[in-house]
Amino acid sequence: MSSAELSVFIRAIGVHTPERKLTNAELSKMVDTSDEWIKTRSGIGERRIAGPGENPSDMGAKAAAKALERASLTPTDVDLLIVATMTPDVPFPSTACLLQAKLGLRRDIPCFDVSAACSGFVYALQVAKDMMRSGAYRRALVVGAEKLSSVVDWSDRTTCVLFGDGAGAVLLETTSEKNVGLLGNLLGADGNNAELLHCVGGGSAAPATADSLRDGKHFLRMNGKEVFRHAVRVMAESCERVLSKCDVKSEQVAWFIPHQANIRILEAVASQLNVGMDRFPSNLERYGNTSAASIPLALEEAWTDGKIKHGDLVLIVAFGAGLTWGATLLRWHEPTR
Ligand code: COA
Repeated sequence: MSSAELSVFIRAIGVHTPERKLTNAELSKMVDTSDEWIKTRSGIGERRIAGPGENPSDMGAKAAAKALERASLTPTDVDLLIVATMTPDVPFPSTACLLQAKLGLRRDIPCFDVSAACSGFVYALQVAKDMMRSGAYRRALVVGAEKLSSVVDWSDRTTCVLFGDGAGAVLLETTSEKNVGLLGNLLGADGNNAELLHCVGGGSAAPATADSLRDGKHFLRMNGKEVFRHAVRVMAESCERVLSKCDVKSEQVAWFIPHQANIRILEAVASQLNVGMDRFPSNLERYGNTSAASIPLALEEAWTDGKIKHGDLVLIVAFGAGLTWGATLLRWHEPTR
């Protein structure tokens, strides 16, 4: 069989979120905000906050271990690991290498991070798929793991109410079956709008100094209104373009699993696509925006809730800092429980 014939599907999925919940009521004691403002503007009720020593590699390892357990596989069965994160444990080595060691993956496999912010999981899925279709890797772990609480300025009410921590992992596998798993995709970026959502300090251009720390240069900063505008347009366009590429109509898609940024963004995208919100599951109320972890978290929940069924067409779509975006159409193959 030629390797070009291989399809790649999600054999198992696992998630992990920190125990600590930070509610809107608690936040309103930290900054000048209210439960009503946060819920109305974002749909978020609470978010999870990682404890000290609970890092993306730890959360990601737990999510990946859950996926392996559900697949009745062991870490030695994994041939490739890609971690999507914008909050790596450390600048280097990669979070993937740290996760590899924690999970006990083999040493003869590639382990690396993908940096595409909130679109990271969709980017990483595509990279994994393309590496696997060559036939060189049979099973891959793709992990989205984030600790946004470490880059949020907890005195800035315009951003701190929106983000949370968590991790999700999928175990991908190749199969000779046709028309299953990751069917088609689209990725894009616009670095000209990088300053709309960024962190200017702490990298090689502006290493951390006492002054940069005092000025809060290591925190995430965002132009919320502009990000909102771009997110709606680009997510709707990405869905339309990937559907047209795959020759599928939006009516045929059972579930849209969007990056969980903000409920009003999701509503605007659904409205542009002329799709009801009943086909746009959301867990924003409980987790907020967990960046690269948000799609696997939402996907796992929609599946365990009994929404996504074997054979369903599922469209995942993301948007994030960069700016970056991406969409992937999947034919759902019932994962192992
Ligand atoms: N609580 C109370 N008031 C707040 C607030 C908060 N947490 N944050 C901002 N405000 C205030 C502002 O200071 C402003 O006050 P002013 O009119 O006196 O200046 C007012 O609320 C309105 O602010 P505005 O920025 O116009 O609100 P908005 O309707 O644009 O909503 C966001 C703000 C951030 C919720 C919205 O722009 C958004 O969702 N953007 C996209 C963010 C996102 O999803 N980013 C990640 C993408 S991957």
